[in-house]
Amino acid sequence: MPTGKRAPCGRRDTLAHRSGAIMWLQRSIKRAVGRRLTGARRLVLRREVPALESRLDALPELGLYLHVPFCRQICPYCPYNKELFDADLAQRYTQAALREIDIYADLVGHKPVTSFYIGGGTPTTLLHAGLDRILEHVYASFPMQCDVHLESHVNDLSHDNLGLLLSLGVKHLSIGVEALQDRHLRTLCRPYTVDQAMAAVNRAVHAGFDCVNVDAIFALPGQTLAEIEELGHRMVALGADQVTTYPLFEFPYTRWPQLARQNGYRRFGALRKRRMLRTLEHIFYDAGFRRSSVWAFTRSGVPRYCSVTVPLYLGLGASGSSYLRDVFYVNTFNVRAYCEALEQGRLPIALSLDLSPDMQMAGWLYWRLYETRFRKSRFYERFGRSFDEVFGKYFKLLALAGFLTDDGDEIVCSDRGTYWLHWVEDLFSIDYVGALWGTSGQQPWPQEVVLTV
Ligand SMILES: C[S@@+](CC[C@H](N)C(=O)[O-])C[C@H]1O[C@@H](n2cnc3c(N)ncnc32)[C@H](O)[C@@H]1O
Ligand code: SF4
Repeated sequence: MPTGKRAPCGRRDTLAHRSGAIMWLQRSIKRAVGRRLTGARRLVLRREVPALESRLDALPELGLYLHVPFCRQICPYCPYNKELFDADLAQRYTQAALREIDIYADLVGHKPVTSFYIGGGTPTTLLHAGLDRILEHVYASFPMQCDVHLESHVNDLSHDNLGLLLSLGVKHLSIGVEALQDRHLRTLCRPYTVDQAMAAVNRAVHAGFDCVNVDAIFALPGQTLAEIEELGHRMVALGADQVTTYPLFEFPYTRWPQLARQNGYRRFGALRKRRMLRTLEHIFYDAGFRRSSVWAFTRSGVPRYCSVTVPLYLGLGASGSSYLRDVFYVNTFNVRAYCEALEQGRLPIALSLDLSPDMQMAGWLYWRLYETRFRKSRFYERFGRSFDEVFGKYFKLLALAGFLTDDGDEIVCSDRGTYWLHWVEDLFSIDYVGALWGTSGQQPWPQEVVLTV
């Protein structure tokens, strides 16, 4: 729905100046923070397969991520690696994933798996097309010390499918509801109504999962604060254990920027988004939820539905990415290239980046701030260095500014600090995701991808 009003000429100049100044400020903050924390001017991911054996051997435990790159529809705003579901390709993909599990099981199969997250795309597209075989193979190949977390789509959540998910060992379910007003569902091109979404969540909430999370997107074209309030209250009323509300991120390689231009959608600034999030925070806190990450709120006493924020993990599937202490690497995004590599007995690794100690510490800090609270002693356990020695002076200033509290060990971000610290993090993540995922979506085996710090 068109919402953008054309500014009169003089006002347009002022707006252009203002957005130029904001962009300059953002670039300067990004450069100052990025170079100071990583000690680098650019990060270059290269087409190299890193040495894995010794690195995997050194891990005490690991997390697993499995990417399912299939969807029944392609949403115009979605940055993730996916293509339309095709039954034959899904079968070939399942075979390839089983082989990838075998390769890693040979290398590291005796180490306990302490987190397992299945994301997409839409993992529930594989529900009758290979998911059971993949899960059984993972259980048979690794000592599992965790439950399974899985992303799902509203239209896949019949009673039978929910029962099947539970029987496969999925205990934590996330549902992409995205909006709870029909006009916004239409803007996002979601193929269901609010009533259908609420009925699906209701079935899931009563099915017996340990945790049901509901995702929504806010800062949608023309969305009002009254609609945000209604969204918050409706999310609480759904009875889910966790609610996650992301502001709409615009990725240049998706169809969204074109759609926004065509329809004259106006973007919300950072202050307006903060106000929207504050409205949601109040509603969720009043309803007894606690903040469990920048965008997620969990009911007290419920284990949180978590995504890939564990310190070390192996990524399986097309576009699966892995983080093993001093190296980050990512599989090819191309589903056919992924299958071919595994059919030839090769790991489908497309790009890798060696991480200096500074980069590892910056990466660790990124995810801990994303979780909004952490213990400094964990930093010492991981890096053998005092957190205060490395980051103390910055955190003192942040505490003085009211962005966080520090009781000597635990750091807890305030709501204001959470939002603005993540705003700075996003100066990196949106650019990096745009460059890495955008290039990888076009070329199965890029020679290199350069990320500017
Ligand atoms: C992989 S999708 C969820 C599962 C399923 N594919 C679906 O769409 O229902 C993961 C979540 O990312 C969020 N998301 C996707 N694109 C986004 C964007 N451009 N901005 C903000 N959040 C986004 C949505 O809340 C979505 O539920
Ligand atoms: S939002 Fe979900 S359903 Fe839509 S394209 Fe992305 S992964 Fe697929």
